Amino acid sequence: MWCKHSFKIAQRLPKTILRDCHVTSCRSSQEMKRSVINVSPNTTEKSPRILITGGLGQLGTECAKLLRKNYGSENVILSDIIKPTEESLANGPFIFADILDFKGLQKIVVNYRIDWLIHFSALLSAVGEQNVPLAVRVNIEGMHNVIELAKQYKLRIFIPSTIGAFGPDSPRNPTPNVTVQRPRTIYGVSKVHAELLGEYYHHRFGLDFRCLRFPGVISSDPPGGGTTDYAVAVFHEGLVTRKYECYLEPHTRLPMMYIEDCLSALFQFLNTPNELLLRRVYNVTAMSFTPEELFSELKKHVPDLKISYKPDGRQYIAENWPQVFDDSEARRDWGWQHKYNLEKLVESMVRDVKKNFLTKRSLKEVNSYV
Ligand SMILES: NC(=O)c1ccc[n+]([C@@H]2O[C@H](COP(=O)([O-])OP(=O)(O)OC[C@H]3O[C@@H](n4cnc5c(N)ncnc54)[C@H](O)[C@@H]3O)[C@@H](O)[C@H]2O)c1
Repeated sequence: MWCKHSFKIAQRLPKTILRDCHVTSCRSSQEMKRSVINVSPNTTEKSPRILITGGLGQLGTECAKLLRKNYGSENVILSDIIKPTEESLANGPFIFADILDFKGLQKIVVNYRIDWLIHFSALLSAVGEQNVPLAVRVNIEGMHNVIELAKQYKLRIFIPSTIGAFGPDSPRNPTPNVTVQRPRTIYGVSKVHAELLGEYYHHRFGLDFRCLRFPGVISSDPPGGGTTDYAVAVFHEGLVTRKYECYLEPHTRLPMMYIEDCLSALFQFLNTPNELLLRRVYNVTAMSFTPEELFSELKKHVPDLKISYKPDGRQYIAENWPQVFDDSEARRDWGWQHKYNLEKLVESMVRDVKKNFLTKRSLKEVNSYV
């Protein structure tokens, strides 16, 4: 028999989603939520048309791949202000979109009949500190544009937030979903602003605003200038030159997740029925590690990897961020579960970087050592 809580969740779910679920009668409510939300979107329903802003950054291209697989290439419009590679053009529609140009955005939403907006454009933590006025424009004014657009055209809007939305006054181990947020970077300030404005538009205007606070995201694509970038750079540099100079101290613990987990959280969250969301902003994470722990795992694949440490301004940023992220609310409300731990992450990154980035020459060098 279903427990009472599972039955209530089931009653609140759209019939189309329930139809795709093969729920056995003795499942707990938690398992029930997971199975409900892990289903692929129903193919008989019209696919949403999705615009991704800042789509040529670390998260955008991979995100477009996942969404195109589920909703069809033509339904996912990638956009940015930088020039796309041939590969990004080959996979589906790409257009120029500057988030500071409100009229231009309106045109896109109307012409492409957009339903969902995934807003990735931003200046990340380290880059933002180097150009605060530009970070204010892109991260705050740009966000005002997209949120107003979403309200006007009744779009579902996803804006990622970050562990950088917390500061030295927040509890750092663990950092709960709701706590003090007094960040000390313009990046963090702009993200808290986005969280609050999004929640306000949701309560005031009924906007379908959704936000996940991601930890450092690790993928083989080059990162965009964040404080957790070392955990990507060490794979690129370490696999070729077998040495890496780290800008954080060896014991600096930060929450992290592999790109596949990040995107599956995003996909699952976007598809969660509104009724199950007790919040509009959720922490999500997979693991926490220090540079030292990551490097010692990587040394299993590259035994002669030489690491040196030369902390810079990013050390100060990292010291004020969460060490361990509490994402129990996402796990409870919509069944979030990660797949990758440190060991699997390192294995996958070594494989991805070798496959996608190393030239034949360097790959030969790497193989002679691994
Ligand atoms: N990568 C991470 O580890 C991480 C962690 C937490 C949250 N996030 C968030 O996820 C989102 C995407 O992150 P990312 O790592 O892909 O960032 P990124 O820096 O790699 O990409 C950001 C993109 O925004 C674009 N952009 C800049 N100004 C723009 C403008 N005026 N109009 C349109 N586009 C513009 C850039 O060209 C770039 O391609 C960001 O909002 C970031 O805060 C990322």
